[in-house]
Amino acid sequence: MLTIKKHIAAVLHEKYAALTQNPEFTADDFAGFLEYPPDDKLGDLAFPCFKLSRSLRMGPPVIASKLADGLGDEIIGRVDVVGGYLNFYINPAYLAGSLMPVILEKGDAYGSFDFGKGKNVVLDYSSPNVAKPFHIGHLGTTVIGHSLKKLHEFVGYNCIGVNHLGDWGTQFGKMIVAYRKWGNREQVEAGGIDELVALYVKFHAEAENNPALEDEARAEFTKLEHHDEENTELWKWFIDISLKEYEQTYKQLDIEFDSYKGESFYYDKAPAIAEELKEKGLLTIDDGASIVNLEKYNMPPCLILKKDGSTIYPVRDIAAAFYRKNTYDFEKCIYVTSAGQSLHFAQVFKVIELMGYDWAKKLIHVPYGTVSINGAKLATRTGNVILLKELFAESIEKVGKIMEEKGVTRENKEEIAEAVGVGAIIFYYLSNSRIKDINFILEDALNFDGNTGPYAQYTYARTCSIIEKAGGVPAITPDASMVTNPAEAALLKTLSIFPERVLGALNDLEPSVITRYILDVCAAFNHFYHECQIISADDPKVRDFRVALTACAKTVLGNAFGLICMKKTEKI
Ligand code: ARG
Repeated sequence: MLTIKKHIAAVLHEKYAALTQNPEFTADDFAGFLEYPPDDKLGDLAFPCFKLSRSLRMGPPVIASKLADGLGDEIIGRVDVVGGYLNFYINPAYLAGSLMPVILEKGDAYGSFDFGKGKNVVLDYSSPNVAKPFHIGHLGTTVIGHSLKKLHEFVGYNCIGVNHLGDWGTQFGKMIVAYRKWGNREQVEAGGIDELVALYVKFHAEAENNPALEDEARAEFTKLEHHDEENTELWKWFIDISLKEYEQTYKQLDIEFDSYKGESFYYDKAPAIAEELKEKGLLTIDDGASIVNLEKYNMPPCLILKKDGSTIYPVRDIAAAFYRKNTYDFEKCIYVTSAGQSLHFAQVFKVIELMGYDWAKKLIHVPYGTVSINGAKLATRTGNVILLKELFAESIEKVGKIMEEKGVTRENKEEIAEAVGVGAIIFYYLSNSRIKDINFILEDALNFDGNTGPYAQYTYARTCSIIEKAGGVPAITPDASMVTNPAEAALLKTLSIFPERVLGALNDLEPSVITRYILDVCAAFNHFYHECQIISADDPKVRDFRVALTACAKTVLGNAFGLICMKKTEKI
């Protein structure tokens, strides 16, 4: 569609330029003015002529009719003047002839770009806190972050996925105390992270009545900061146990990280930062703590070092930004966290800017809203938080049941149930603008008849089975005579929009653009499927064309699934 927009813009601009001595807009501006009408009946693209009223000194309807005069070529099938709008109908034959060969030839690469080539993008996402529950709140950072990584890769960037583990801080002092008092090796080996969380919860319960525990914990953490051997060993072990479990969740999501350098990697790099801040006159001592005053920027101070000189979250992030800049020389460094951390990142970015580094503008925080879960049906063993793995397990189990009810007897039905169960959650989550708070209703996410992941995966499986039944994708040279049904034309048009949607999602750092687009493709494909005989078409030429069109829909769906980290299901 980008080519088509350019073409229409060029043709219109030529006419416009002939009507005025000093054109206010360029052909590129015109391409940007073109809109997708809300309703198919109003054409495939619309041009709002009121934008030109000022420079042409004419009313929009007059402009519209002047511009429409004589328009029409192999791309522009028809133009209607409706009020101040020009409604364009694209020649379906052109779409078939120019678009289908491109999709079929590019395959996995259809919709991609290469403008990111040779540039690095760092994405900091997921980043759970070790020995604390990996809960539903982390779903957002994990799937939005990974989706943004996929999007950046799709336009050519070299991406570095960083899991900035929360593996440092006073909670480790608490863990060490709790483990020594109430834990033992076998139990933790067997129970994994749940056992660690249980110890952590117990610590807090006990500390309510026995505040001395807090002092003990602080002392143990200080020992850890000073590389005490036993504490270091315990700390490493806690991390290993946690990672093992995260990896299972990441595997279900098909996520791999390029770096697991977490907060602990940066704590000894903080003093140098504090030193530089001091040299640059940015550091103030406030009640013993070192801070950067940000009053001028309407923000509370950014804490750099605590009274006792130990590091805290913000300074570790400042150190991490420097490390990443030096290591990856990034074009962008993206941080995906809940909106609750927006102030934290605003402060960190500001401090780096005040230190005089103009690359501070390449640091981007991508916030998202909160998640809640409806109904108490999702049991949890850890009190009032819902663990991500429990949500996945519940969803997979439910899909398994649905498959059983439907009498699915495939060999790999467990694998399918997992792909569909996890996909349902990803899709549901990524259906909304990321900043919106969402209330999770598992039944809705799993509804095969709704606008859900299972519905999308089912549509994908349908395209696969048609192609399989047809014995593969026939080699055809689409031509004008092949498009005989409006449903075919509508599907072609929807498929042509994919590259634009990729750019839209990237610009807004918004995976939901892709999720919504997937639903458009599914709707257009299913409409085509119900309107047109595909394999059973009498005319072999028509049949081959429709199978090839099905293959195009499959390619686009598959590519789009990849961008939101939803697995492709050949069969359901
Ligand atoms: N561990 C933090 C949390 O769970 C998120 C870390 C985000 N990344 C960062 N560089 N601060 O809330």
